[in-house]
Amino acid sequence: MEDDDFRKIKELYEGEEDPVPAHSFENHVLEVYENAKGLLNGREVDEEVVEYAALLHDVGRQFPGEKGHAEKGAEVARKFLTEELDKDEEFVEKVSECIRHHSNRPHLDPPTREAELVWAADKMHAAGATGLCRFLLTLGAKKYSPEDAVDILERRVFEAEERLNRFGFEDLTEELEILKDFVKQYKEENHAPD
Ligand SMILES: [Fe+2]
Ligand SMILES: [Fe+2]
Repeated sequence: MEDDDFRKIKELYEGEEDPVPAHSFENHVLEVYENAKGLLNGREVDEEVVEYAALLHDVGRQFPGEKGHAEKGAEVARKFLTEELDKDEEFVEKVSECIRHHSNRPHLDPPTREAELVWAADKMHAAGATGLCRFLLTLGAKKYSPEDAVDILERRVFEAEERLNRFGFEDLTEELEILKDFVKQYKEENHAPD
């Protein structure tokens, strides 16, 4: 990616509202960008689409509204790539499609190899001890109860494992083990008395 484009995208993240620190440009977006570049290795995808989509994937969090951040991000990115970076229509559509489908909503399954890769790069940062820490901080900031947070985590892990296997990222499922162990341990400690 050209330095100038990188700088402009970084500036876009300085938009309207700061996300929680666990989702900031430095703490999260850059990590996903690096993950995505690491996953490119040998895969038949449009690398430029993946890089721009990874770097722009959470920009919707800067512009809160009624739409989900993925949908909003796709809209913001489409306008930005066209008007600020002068990218052609086909490229813009491919990138915004990745952004629109990067969240976990089952009806928004990633439709292209590029979108699958961006989703996996994001998911990698939601796994391991780092992902667990980020998840709990994010849901805590939204005032979720511990029980609800653990239920959501359990469901997310189940869905992530299914998608990682289906998309050909089986080797990344190891990173989910710490999350599974945590859910199991939490439930053992907090099970309802008979
Ligand atoms: Fe996101
Ligand atoms: Fe993300």
